Amino acid sequence: MEAKLIFDPENYKVETMELDGNRLVYRAYEDLSYAAKPVDPRYQKMNIFVPETYFEGGRIHGYDRDTAPVFLSNTVGGYMPGEPARPERDSTGKPNAVFMALLHGYVVAAPGARGRGLQDEEGLFTGCAPACIVDLKAAVRYLKYHAEQIPGNMSRIISNGTSAGGALSSLLGVTGNHPDYETCLAEIGAAPAGDDIFAASCYCPITNLDHADMAYEWEFSGLDEYHRMNFERDETTGEVKMTPETGLMTPEQIALSRELKEMFPAYLNSLQLKEEDGRPLMLNKDGEGTFQEYIKRQVIASIEKALESGADLSAYGWIDSREGKVREIDFQEYIAYRTRMKTTPAFDDIVLKTPENELFGDAYTASRHFTQFSLSHSSAAGKMAEEDQIKRMNPMNYIGDGKCSTAPYFRIRHGADDRDTSLAVSAMLTAALRGHGVEVDYHLPWGFAHAGDYDLPELFHWIDDICKPGE
Ligand code: DHB
Repeated sequence: MEAKLIFDPENYKVETMELDGNRLVYRAYEDLSYAAKPVDPRYQKMNIFVPETYFEGGRIHGYDRDTAPVFLSNTVGGYMPGEPARPERDSTGKPNAVFMALLHGYVVAAPGARGRGLQDEEGLFTGCAPACIVDLKAAVRYLKYHAEQIPGNMSRIISNGTSAGGALSSLLGVTGNHPDYETCLAEIGAAPAGDDIFAASCYCPITNLDHADMAYEWEFSGLDEYHRMNFERDETTGEVKMTPETGLMTPEQIALSRELKEMFPAYLNSLQLKEEDGRPLMLNKDGEGTFQEYIKRQVIASIEKALESGADLSAYGWIDSREGKVREIDFQEYIAYRTRMKTTPAFDDIVLKTPENELFGDAYTASRHFTQFSLSHSSAAGKMAEEDQIKRMNPMNYIGDGKCSTAPYFRIRHGADDRDTSLAVSAMLTAALRGHGVEVDYHLPWGFAHAGDYDLPELFHWIDDICKPGE
């Protein structure tokens, strides 16, 4: 075996951390290289953390050194490179998911991954798709390869991620062991083991990128005003300044929006999605139908849950509710309440300026198109990404593919205030997975926009449920 892939059980530090009155003692195995031939060693490595009590024969929540589930937490955001996480406070000041997962008794595996914008010394781009998913798969392979030495149950790997990281979590969950990734895995020297996982937790997955533009306009077309936050980093202080921006789409963008909206029903109908009771989820040419009703029901469930916990939603005129039950919502008003965030096209921009354009670059090209629509409307003389590059970034292409070992359990959360991508994206993923026998816990939590890890006790409850400790 390549020296770089070794796991040395004796090479650890014992650390103690106390956050908000919770004291954690754990073993930290850090900077483990999961690729024998790394392209960027800063990101292609992983940290593993194990509750110290497991080495003293102790148990937490019924788990022990061998049965503890492995919480595989990625830090990818914006499809940028992500470094391996550690237990610490998150950006909101709360103990992060790594800390809380350890406290709950999980073994935590925190891989880094390459992402868009990375360049080598020669200036070649090294983090374009599918680098990020290939790296996470290599991390899973490393864990499984060393299943005997690394504490935790490698048949119970649960991946977790938010946004782009949520998209990667869904890809990990769907595409386990699929040969499409084999060449790339071999190139970086991944360990000879499987990369299938047990479950995927996906917060607001920014996925199905090659159809996300139409999905976005299916929801937001007609709202020509956009509201977004611009982030600017002060290079000297490192502080990130946020400035809100409101603007009006150009007549050209408005025209593109209408075209994209009209394209969505044909795509949606081609998926042949079904309700759990077998009824087809469809849209007519105006974008109305059972699929819209399906999402509307999720929103109603979200509102009812908020009402149940005492929220006062009487200010929202588009909600008609009595005694905790919603009688009707005005779906268009609900979308207007969320507001449009992105201009058209939201993902494959005709000026090649989105994170996703950069994701689909190649070694020599910073940004490319990934839809025929935007290629044909390109105002930047953009080139098209390769078909197999686009294919490997979309879990929808692999659901039901017999060559995948797909995780039997998914948990998908998409905030009811989210506007980074259409709610249709997570709804299609959910329905497609359920259609292929995957158990999906799906909810649109009220009051949340584009965020993740906000309901860790519930997430851990779900994990404990599917892992059934003690049985
Ligand atoms: C993320 C957010 C986006 O709006 C997007 O287009 C891609 C990624 C993110 O937060 O990861």
